[in-house]
Amino acid sequence: MAVYKLLLLPGDGIGPEITAEAEKILDFLGEAGVASFETETGLVGGAAYDAHGVAISEEDMKLAQEADAVLLAAVGGPKWDGVPYDVRPEAGLLRLRKDLALFANLRPAICYPALAEASSLKPDLVKGLDIMIVRELTGGVYFGEPKEITDLGNGQKRAVDTQVYETYEIERIGRVAFELARKRGNRVTSSEKANVMKSGLLWREVITALHKREYSDVQLDHMLADALGMQLVRWPKQFDVIVTDNLFGDILSDVASMLTGSLGMLPSASLGAPDASGKRKAMYEPCHGSAPDIAGKEIANPIAMIGSLGMALRYSFDLPAAADAIDAAISAVLAQGLRTADIKGSAASSVSTSQMGDAIVKELREILK
Ligand code: NAD
Ligand code: IPM
Ligand code: MN
Repeated sequence: MAVYKLLLLPGDGIGPEITAEAEKILDFLGEAGVASFETETGLVGGAAYDAHGVAISEEDMKLAQEADAVLLAAVGGPKWDGVPYDVRPEAGLLRLRKDLALFANLRPAICYPALAEASSLKPDLVKGLDIMIVRELTGGVYFGEPKEITDLGNGQKRAVDTQVYETYEIERIGRVAFELARKRGNRVTSSEKANVMKSGLLWREVITALHKREYSDVQLDHMLADALGMQLVRWPKQFDVIVTDNLFGDILSDVASMLTGSLGMLPSASLGAPDASGKRKAMYEPCHGSAPDIAGKEIANPIAMIGSLGMALRYSFDLPAAADAIDAAISAVLAQGLRTADIKGSAASSVSTSQMGDAIVKELREILK
C-alpha cells in the first residue's frame, strides 16, 4: 500500500474542529487499505504567532516543502487584529502559497441534489450546478509591489496595492483552465476588468492568443468581473470553467459558495507546476475562513475540509476512486437530511461537526465495502 506524507495545518478558529473530521477519514482510508498516510501536524496563522511570534515557522515551511501535500484548515481571527502586518495569520497562508509556487487554485462549486433547497437561489437555478472556478493564486494585487502605507506628514496617509501580471502567469493559469474544461463541459469563461485595468487588458489578450494557438476546440468567452458576479446569481448554470485573477477569484468563489447551500461546502486545491517526474506541490484548503463567530461550538460544517481531502486524493495521490467515494458519501449523508447549522432547509436534522464527520465515515465504509 502506498504511503503518502501529508502535513496537517489546522490553524485557527474552527480549523482544529474540522481537521479532526478529516483525520477520521484518513484513519478510515488507512484501515480500509486504500492508502496509508504519514501525517505531521504543524502550526500556521494565529496559532503559530502565539507559539513562535511568526505566521509560520521555518521548520513548518520545511515540512510543507517536503510533504506530498499540505491540508490546511483556516487561519485568522479578531484575536490577532492588532499584530504587525507581516506576521498576521493570513501572512502564513500567503507565504505557503507563494513559496510552494501554488499558482493554480481550483474551487469547485457543486450543488449536491439534496441542497438545492438550501441555496439562496430558487432550487431550479442551482439543481445540478457544477462550476469550476480557476483562481490565479500567486500573483496580482496580493503580491504586487509596491504595497505600502506612507505617512504624508499632513495628517494624511497614502495606501498603495499594486496589481501586476506577466504573460507567463496568465498563460499558465489559462492552460489549467482549458485543460480542465476539456475534461468537463468544454467551456471557459475568462474574467477580468479589461475596461479599466491594464492587467485586465493583458489578461484578455494572453487568454485569447492561447486559445487561438492551442485550445480552439474549447468554447471561450470573456466576461467583465462585475457582470460575472451578477450572472452567477442570475443564471449560474451558464458557466462551466471560470478563469480569473487572484482577487476576483477570491470574491467570486465566496459568491458561488452560497449557490451550493453554504460557504462551508466549498473545498479547494492549490497546485504548483508538475516537475519532470509529473509530481506537483499542492495544498488543499476549504475556501472558507476560521469562522470566529462559531469557533469552539462544535457546529462548523466539516464538508469543505473533507472535500478538500478528497481533492488531495484526486490531484496529489492518484486515488480518483477514493475521491469519488468521498463525494458520494457526502452526497448520501446530505440526502439523509443531515445538516450542520450553516445549511438552511426544512428537512434538516441538525448535527454537530463530529456527528457529520462520523456520518460521512459510516457512508464511506458502506461505499468502499
Ligand atoms: P469566514 O469564512 O471565516 O466566515 C464567514 C461566515 O461563514 C461566518 O458567519 C462563518 O461562521 C461562516 N462559515 C465559514 N465557514 C464555515 C463552516 N465551515 N461551517 C459553518 N459556517 C461557516 O470569513 P470571515 O469571517 O470574513 O473571516 C474570518 C477570518 O478567517 C479572517 O481572519 C480571514 O482573514 C480568515 N480567512 C481565512 C481563510 C483561510 O484560511 N483559507 C479564508 C477566508 C478567510
Ligand atoms: C481565501 C482567503 C484568503 C485569500 C485570505 C485568508 C488570505 O480569503 O483563501 O479565500 O484572500 O486568498
Ligand atoms: Mn476568500
